[in-house]
Amino acid sequence: MKVLILGSGGREHALAWAVKRSQRMTEVVCAPGNGGIAQIARCIPADLKNLDAMVRVAEAEQPCLTIVGPELPLSLGIVDALQERGLRVFGPTRAAAMLETSKGFAKRFLQRHNIPTANYAVCASTAELEKAIDFFHPPIVVKADGLHAGKGVLICESRHTAIEAAQGLFTGALLGEAEQQMVIEEFLKGDEISFLCLSDGKHVVPLAPAQDHKCIGEGDTGPNTGGMGVYSTDTMLEPGMTEWILHHIAEPTVRGMAEEETPFMGVLYCGLMMTARGPQVLEFNARFGDPETQAILLRLESDLVDALEACIDGRLAETELRWNSGASACVVASSSGYPGSYKTGFPITGLAAAAHVPGVQIFHSGSSRVGDQLLTAGGRVLGVTAAAPSLEEALARAYQAMAEIHFEGMYYRRDIGHRALKKKP
Ligand code: AMP
Ligand code: GLY
Repeated sequence: MKVLILGSGGREHALAWAVKRSQRMTEVVCAPGNGGIAQIARCIPADLKNLDAMVRVAEAEQPCLTIVGPELPLSLGIVDALQERGLRVFGPTRAAAMLETSKGFAKRFLQRHNIPTANYAVCASTAELEKAIDFFHPPIVVKADGLHAGKGVLICESRHTAIEAAQGLFTGALLGEAEQQMVIEEFLKGDEISFLCLSDGKHVVPLAPAQDHKCIGEGDTGPNTGGMGVYSTDTMLEPGMTEWILHHIAEPTVRGMAEEETPFMGVLYCGLMMTARGPQVLEFNARFGDPETQAILLRLESDLVDALEACIDGRLAETELRWNSGASACVVASSSGYPGSYKTGFPITGLAAAAHVPGVQIFHSGSSRVGDQLLTAGGRVLGVTAAAPSLEEALARAYQAMAEIHFEGMYYRRDIGHRALKKKP
């Protein structure tokens, strides 16, 4: 069986690793991939911003299954395009991916289906926003409607700064592109949980839960990033909470999308805030998370390809996922300067010694291979992921392996998972 993975980050490296372990695998191709992925899969050039180019890659390769990693190809309609050509593809159609690609759509959908989320208003002009804003108490969250890789969310300490932020979004001064609409919503307090599920359009199966660390700095300080580390344990959700979230959030979402004739097949990533009034949806993503996927797949015992194929064929109800008990953690090493500007092209050393630490897998986010050497090629460079019977041991293994790795300007947070450890009785 030949599998094509679209994407170039740590998530895609972890997907390629998990797919390769499948009983049925013969070949994994990744487009465009990266230096780390090239060690386990054939990488071919592809521009993820160009729908026609991606379709040409899939048509030329004729894979038995295509897995779409990032949101951009989903927003361009890669799933629709491949389905039209009779190719099997895992991921939601462009219409279903609107749960991620339009925050206004997602909020109205949540309200239509009585799914818990922060109070909000969708505004198409500053005048509309000025009218709505009196109903909100600062801090006020202002969100651009479209995809902005985490940079489109602003937490504003006063109504005045919220209006300024909105003006910046509407004129394009803040993100470069002028926004047509935005969401303002109440600020929620609590722990964030990434609750990912597989869906075949009707049924939902949860993956192991995870907690991302979005800020660049230790103690959750500084600007937001794509994710600096993540952990997953058996005990991070209270007993019964998984069922509650399935019953009140994930299942009604999938049912609602089917009722509205845009059935959702793929990964439904529910970004939740665990508040005093229960879990609330902060956002949906229509894909695997990064770096959540690295930590989650390290815990998956059953065959990933079987599960993804069950989604495509509408057989998810008959599928059960098996998980290794215990914990996993992923610590991300980034280039100095990230999430702002950074330099690339520095040699990465110590990877072989790091890989010898028991339970460790290293997934590359931004690396390139030149001859025998791996060079840094992105803001997030790699994630050291470790599984162990306890979170303490998983973190100790990840940090022990990380200590072996070097590149110029290498930075990583030393407090991944520490909030969970502190909470323990
Ligand atoms: P989003 O892209 O909507 O998930 O927002 C990015 C990040 O902003 C989230 O992961 C949260 O850390 C934060 N955030 C978003 N919405 C809220 C909210 N209503 N209250 C508090 N924090 C939020
Ligand atoms: N780690 C956050 C995301 O994948 O969106």
